[in-house]
Amino acid sequence: MDRSTAAFDGALETQLQALMDYPGFKGQTSNRFLAEISDLVIAKAEVGEPLIEVGCFLGKSTVALAMLARRMDARLFSIDVGRQHIDFTAGMLAHYGLADRVTFFHGDFPTFAARMIFPTKPAMVLVDGHHAYRYVRADIAALFALNDHPRYAAFHDYALRRAGPASEDAPNVYGAIHDAFGPALSVSPVGIAGPQGPPKINNRNNYLAPGVSEGVIIDLAPYQAGLPAPATA
Ligand SMILES: C[S@@+](CC[C@H](N)C(=O)[O-])C[C@H]1O[C@@H](n2cnc3c(N)ncnc32)[C@H](O)[C@@H]1O
Repeated sequence: MDRSTAAFDGALETQLQALMDYPGFKGQTSNRFLAEISDLVIAKAEVGEPLIEVGCFLGKSTVALAMLARRMDARLFSIDVGRQHIDFTAGMLAHYGLADRVTFFHGDFPTFAARMIFPTKPAMVLVDGHHAYRYVRADIAALFALNDHPRYAAFHDYALRRAGPASEDAPNVYGAIHDAFGPALSVSPVGIAGPQGPPKINNRNNYLAPGVSEGVIIDLAPYQAGLPAPATA
């Protein structure tokens, strides 16, 4: 297989542009984020290794990962707790001729991980479901509960923060990742960095941390024996 192309020689960008005309479409991941995680899989994974997505929403990352699955002769497993999001995304995939690459699971990642046995190592899991701390910790635990760990874990909304007092429901992908993987963790930034200058707080009291990347990729090779034990006081 020719692995020399960046984001499929521009085909991914063209497809993501076309989504803008699909009725009801709205995406939450940047084209750059999707291109960068795709390029990594093309460069480092083996043909046929499955892809996993947690959180399809209105299908942007699903379309990108379905294209990647086609390119890698693999299957994409897309997980979402929202039946309406699965139905919307399934229609979108059918419209673009990508439906044959994707298996949907209605539920959460821990439930999927407990039921699914992969015959080959998954190439990558994209974690982009609920962003509150306990859900991200549960998704991280779920990826280690799979019968074979994926090569890479990509996390979206790493830069997302909640202004004001701490809350259990606040997005905290950053805290969940670093607490779970421990102080030796090395992350690779992916996607667009939050704008410099005073943070712009939105109507949900959220903002992007200046200069922090939209997402990160973690190479799971050092974690084949699992996560480090939590530090004791
Ligand atoms: C941020 S959106 C995903 C955005 C999408 N990846 C994109 O590229 O636009 C989050 C999605 O995760 C779903 N979700 C929320 N909690 C979840 C959970 N615990 N497990 C799986 N999916 C969840 C929501 O229904 C929603 O569709």
